[in-house]
Amino acid sequence: PKITIAAAEIAPFAKTGGLADAVAALSASLAANGCRVNLVMPAYRSIIKTAINDAQYVADIGFRTAGQAVPAGIYRYPIGPSQNIYFIRCDEFFDRAGLYGESGIDYTDNDRRFALFSRAVLEVAGLTGSRIIHLNDWHAAPAAAILKLQPERYPGLNAARTLLTIHNLAYQGHFARDRWPSLGLDPAAFYPAFEFYGGVNFLKSGLVCADRLVTVSPTYAREVTSEGCGFGLEGVLRTRAASFSGIVNGVDYNLWNPENDLYLVQHYSAADLSGKAACKKAIQQFYGLEEDPAAPVAAVVSRLADGKGMELIREILKKLIGSGAQFILLGNGVRDLEDFFRALPSVYPGKAGTIIGFDDGLAHRTIAGADMLLMPSQREPCGLTQLYALKYGTVPIVRRTGGLADTVKPAEGDRGDGFLFDEYSGTALWEAVNQARTWFEERPSWQSLMRRGMLADHSWSRSMQQYLQIYRALLS
Ligand code: ADP
Ligand code: GLC
Repeated sequence: PKITIAAAEIAPFAKTGGLADAVAALSASLAANGCRVNLVMPAYRSIIKTAINDAQYVADIGFRTAGQAVPAGIYRYPIGPSQNIYFIRCDEFFDRAGLYGESGIDYTDNDRRFALFSRAVLEVAGLTGSRIIHLNDWHAAPAAAILKLQPERYPGLNAARTLLTIHNLAYQGHFARDRWPSLGLDPAAFYPAFEFYGGVNFLKSGLVCADRLVTVSPTYAREVTSEGCGFGLEGVLRTRAASFSGIVNGVDYNLWNPENDLYLVQHYSAADLSGKAACKKAIQQFYGLEEDPAAPVAAVVSRLADGKGMELIREILKKLIGSGAQFILLGNGVRDLEDFFRALPSVYPGKAGTIIGFDDGLAHRTIAGADMLLMPSQREPCGLTQLYALKYGTVPIVRRTGGLADTVKPAEGDRGDGFLFDEYSGTALWEAVNQARTWFEERPSWQSLMRRGMLADHSWSRSMQQYLQIYRALLS
């Protein structure tokens, strides 16, 4: 089938989190399986400076909003024999320093930016003759509502079906009611689709109107339909229960594999772990830690945002360092957390290292060099970092929630590949860390644990097949 897949970020063109990796990897996997995939994303500043120069201009989609003309166009950029990416260029909206905002503050016109984007997605679907329109998260969700409520505007899409993947229900695209008239959307769409406690909710419009809904793990799918976990949308999700399921994300092992990772000082594999010691030494040097091969290095690579459990890390840090472990963190986000972690190296010199920023290569090197990865998320729809850690023989310590519960198997005897805890508390995290430390002291069993994680298959193939089945069911 011909598929249009739309997202606000797609690796390697723009990335702030797992959405970018998940969409790029699913697309590559579909294309390798004979689908024709048309990706759609906004042309952010970095794209305007680079990729767009090699892209072909395809169509004008300039529009008028609030009495003002806004120029916008579609550009096609081939990324493989069966994959094109369509950049939506609208410099007034997307030629900015950030994707969604700057210095932790959202742009005040994100509603207009992504309303335009959602409309553009339908234009691309029409241009490419796609019959499956696969939308991701709130930024593209309105496309499902526009198509459903104004089908006469898109005669070329009357056989098309929409699927919305929810990567994180905590992000919904909420806006004030008085913004609605400036969005250029059908006034009649407000009540049936967008209205949420009197305001505008982009994600809700997709939940109500998409033909099919998917979230990124089966456990998260269960969690968000139960009381208190659906961020106010559990009711809407329950009415769509028959069209809603969870499919866990996979990993693109062409990009995340310690056997050929371009960023590592030395490669290694489950059969020959020796290179990992060099990676550990390199990362200890880089983060200013004592070069002690015997000290377990516990790492965090994460957005510093609500839900990621960073307050639990804060709680256990002193005990962690006191136990002889080392701690490294690569992350950015909430100011207060950034400040806290930035100060750590001076509190624990040689024992803790922090890099505040976003650096893909360093993410690879950090995950490869560490012994353990901490991911104590309060909620985690899927989580990719723990999957990368598994592949790199870095044992994940995670809270049993969402996709973490679905992908990490508890270490027990000669089974399992990580450590899990349930209660959202520093005490529970510390117990799991302690259990891991005890295992770490037993080299042979620790190495078997590492190997089981490295050999676990979290590639996209199975999940891609599940998506394909849904596409086929939608078309029949
Ligand atoms: P989320 O999408 O909620 O952030 P995931 O675990 O699904 O969580 O994906 C996070 C992705 O972002 C991973 O690829 C991780 O390596 C990457 N990442 C997070 N923070 C940083 C950072 N500061 N620098 C580089 N990569 C990061
Ligand atoms: C979101 C979720 C994360 C998930 C990612 C990709 O950012 O927070 O858990 O792995 O999307 O689906």
